[in-house]
Amino acid sequence: MSAKMLGRPEPVCGMDSWVPVPARILAVREENFNTKTFTLEFCDEGIRDTYGFAPGQFNMVYVPGVGEAAISISSNPHQPRRLDHTIRLVGTVTRAIARMGAGDVIGLRGPFGRGWPLEQLKGKDVVILAGGIGLAPLRPVIYWLLQHREHCRRVVLLYGCRTPEDRLYVEELERWSGDHALDVLVTVDNATGGWTGPVGVVTNLLRRVKVNARQTVVIVCGPRILNRVAAWNFLQLHVPPSQVYVSLERNMNCGFGRCGHCQYGSKFVCRDGPVFCFDEIADIFAKEEI
Ligand SMILES: Cc1cc2nc3c(=O)[nH]c(=O)nc-3n(C[C@H](O)[C@H](O)[C@H](O)COP(=O)(O)OP(=O)(O)OC[C@H]3O[C@@H](n4cnc5c(N)ncnc54)[C@H](O)[C@@H]3O)c2cc1C
Ligand code: FES
Repeated sequence: MSAKMLGRPEPVCGMDSWVPVPARILAVREENFNTKTFTLEFCDEGIRDTYGFAPGQFNMVYVPGVGEAAISISSNPHQPRRLDHTIRLVGTVTRAIARMGAGDVIGLRGPFGRGWPLEQLKGKDVVILAGGIGLAPLRPVIYWLLQHREHCRRVVLLYGCRTPEDRLYVEELERWSGDHALDVLVTVDNATGGWTGPVGVVTNLLRRVKVNARQTVVIVCGPRILNRVAAWNFLQLHVPPSQVYVSLERNMNCGFGRCGHCQYGSKFVCRDGPVFCFDEIADIFAKEEI
């Protein structure tokens, strides 16, 4: 197993740098009506050679003249020369990115944050639970687990979306499911377009999975309410809090623990997270105002 993958790779532009590095858009792929995946490469060959990221880390993506947004890296960590960022086009920066295409240059700072607990997955069953665009930060850990399949026991992916048309990475979901390297269960809130799979919230899928609580590590990423409900569901199934991990979102500015924008209780989500063990945040996780 590569140490580079398990550690916390240094940001490409130094720990304290606010200066983005130019990156070229190689391809844009439409995932659904408001989400696109941008494949990027650093313009500088030297940076391409040295950049690495851990699954669950994020970059600050900069659109010149507009601003920056924190976006998870959604591609294969074994191929860090080409970086996917799956972006929901909701606001100022993300809508500006939406207008860009192959050949355009944007800025990147990163990788930032603490990613998924790869070491803790060793020898365990892994249940990955994603809601909507929450699958994006989880895709690198899926790639990582597929490459190191001997690292853990069973891998189950539970994924929920509003409609079948909202699913991300449809071809990969089908391939992963067909390969039987992991068990994939997808559910939708509304069954449109001839959908014959499960209907209902993603946590309902837990009824279809046998969870061996002591043997299982859970990793969750979705909207705030889903993170809460999912974490509580797993705790009720007696998965120890030390084996439940969630990725959180806060407003970001610096990305490296200086500005205080992303404060979450006594922690900074950019530096101490975005991935947290339930144990670390149990006292504040249920509080709406935090
Ligand atoms: C660690 C981390 C990783 C992230 N990874 C991703 C990622 O992989 N892909 C991605 O698309 N986003 C991701 N985000 C969220 C992204 O940073 C925010 O959505 C960001 O605000 C978008 O910037 P903007 O300038 O386009 O929107 P803003 O101008 O900041 O927001 C404009 C409006 O959109 C609304 N809005 C903002 N975010 C959302 C949202 N998520 N859903 C609905 N409405 C919203 C706001 O309430 C506001 O009214 C991540 C955030 C964090 C902290
Ligand atoms: S974004 Fe500045 S401290 Fe986290």
